[in-house]
Amino acid sequence: MTAAGPLDGPGAVAVDGVEAGAEVVDDEAVAPPGAVAERAVVRSAEPVGAYTRLVLAAPRSAAAARPGQFAACSTGDSGMLLRRSFSISSADAEAGELVLVVAAAGPGTARIAGLRAGDVLPVLAPLGRPFALPPAGEGVVLVGGGYGAAPLAWLGAALRARGSAVDLVVGAGDARRLLGHDTPSTAGGADGVPGGADAPVDRVHVATEDGSAGARGRVTDLLPDLLAGPDGSAGPDGSAGPEESAGHGGGARHVLACGPMAMLRAVHEVASAAGATTQLATEESMACGIGVCMTCVLPVVGDDGRTRMVRACTEGPVFAGERLRWDAIGAPAPQRPAGVGARVPEDAVGAPASSSPLAPPAGGDAVQPGVVGGRP
Ligand SMILES: Cc1cc2nc3c(=O)[nH]c(=O)nc-3n(C[C@H](O)[C@H](O)[C@H](O)COP(=O)(O)OP(=O)(O)OC[C@H]3O[C@@H](n4cnc5c(N)ncnc54)[C@H](O)[C@@H]3O)c2cc1C
Ligand code: FES
Repeated sequence: MTAAGPLDGPGAVAVDGVEAGAEVVDDEAVAPPGAVAERAVVRSAEPVGAYTRLVLAAPRSAAAARPGQFAACSTGDSGMLLRRSFSISSADAEAGELVLVVAAAGPGTARIAGLRAGDVLPVLAPLGRPFALPPAGEGVVLVGGGYGAAPLAWLGAALRARGSAVDLVVGAGDARRLLGHDTPSTAGGADGVPGGADAPVDRVHVATEDGSAGARGRVTDLLPDLLAGPDGSAGPDGSAGPEESAGHGGGARHVLACGPMAMLRAVHEVASAAGATTQLATEESMACGIGVCMTCVLPVVGDDGRTRMVRACTEGPVFAGERLRWDAIGAPAPQRPAGVGARVPEDAVGAPASSSPLAPPAGGDAVQPGVVGGRP
C-alpha cells in the first residue's frame, strides 16, 4: 500500500475532462474486488448548508457504485496516512461522475472540503455493500440524519423506478446541517420542491431539533405516522395490511436509514415496534476501509444465531437492524465519546473467556480489552 497520494493543492492541477480524472494511481493493487483507485478530478465544489458538495470525474467508480456504498479518499497530507470515508451521494455512469457530501469534522475532512474545481482527489471506490432493494412495489421510508441523507435521493430514484412509493424523512440539529430537504418530490408542497412524476421521492418530511426547519423534533417523531396504516394503527403484530403494503400512503414495511449510530438505533426501535424491517448504513470509525485492520468491527448475529465481530467496511456498512447487537454497541466509555464504538459481547465467537487476563474486570467499563471500534 502506498501512503496517501498527493491531493494536489488548490489550482495545482487543472485537468478538464474525464480522461485525466480516470488515471489509475499506484494503490490500485489494494482495491478490493469491485472497487477501483482513481485520481478523480473535482468538477465542482459547492457549499450546501454546513457541507461541501463535491462532483468528481471518476468514471470507473461511477460505473460500479450503488446506493449505500462509500468512497475512501486520500487527504494528501503525509501526516494523515489513512483515507477518509464518505458515502457516495450519487453516481452517474454516463457522465462518469461521483458526488460526495463532506462535513469538515477534523483535519482530513477539512482538507477535502477545501478542494476546488480542477483539484485531484485520489479515491478508492465503490467500497462496502449497498442497500438491498426491498421487493418491487412495496412502500419504503428513507431516513437521513445530517449528511447521512446524502445518498437517499439516489436510493429513492432506484426504488421509485421499481414501483415503490417512497417517503423521505430528513433531520438535523438545525437547518444548516439539514440535507435532502429540497429533494424533488412527486407530491411537492412546503417540504419538497415539486418535481413531477420523475422526482426521486414521493414526499419529503423534515424535522430539526431546534425547529429552525420543518417540525421541531427528531426524525423518529415522524416515523410512526408513516409506518401505521391509514386508520392510524399498526396491525396486531405491528404490521400493516396488504393495501398499505402497496405503498399508497402510510403503512410502509421497510425503513432504510443513514446517519449517526444513536439515530440508527432509535429508528430501528420505532420501525421494528411497527413491524417494519430496517437496513441501516452504519458509520463506524474506519482506518483502512478495505477489510485489513479490524478497526471497524461491529457485533452482528449471523444466520446460525451466533454473534461475530464483523467488519463494517467490507460486510457493511449496511446491516439489517435486527442483526446488530445493540446491547454491545455505543456503550459509553471514558476513552471515547459517548455512543461510539462497540464491545465484543461475551457470547460472541472468539470473545475472551471471563477468566482470561484480557477480559474486562468485574463491573469494569466496556472499553477494556474486548472493546473495538473506538476512534483514535
Ligand atoms: C461508511 C462511512 C460513510 C461516511 N460518510 C460520510 C459523508 O458522507 N460525509 C462526511 O462528511 N463524513 C462521512 N463519514 C465520516 C468521515 O469519514 C469522518 O468524519 C472522517 O473520517 C474524519 O476524518 P478527519 O481527519 O476530518 O477527523 P479525525 O477525527 O481527525 O479523524 C481521525 C481518524 O479517525 C477516523 N474517523 C474519525 N471520525 C470518523 C467517522 N465518523 N467515521 C469514520 N472514521 C472516522 C478517520 O478515518 C481518521 O483515520 C463517513 C464515515 C464512514 C465510515
Ligand atoms: S476499516 Fe480496516 S477492516 Fe474495516
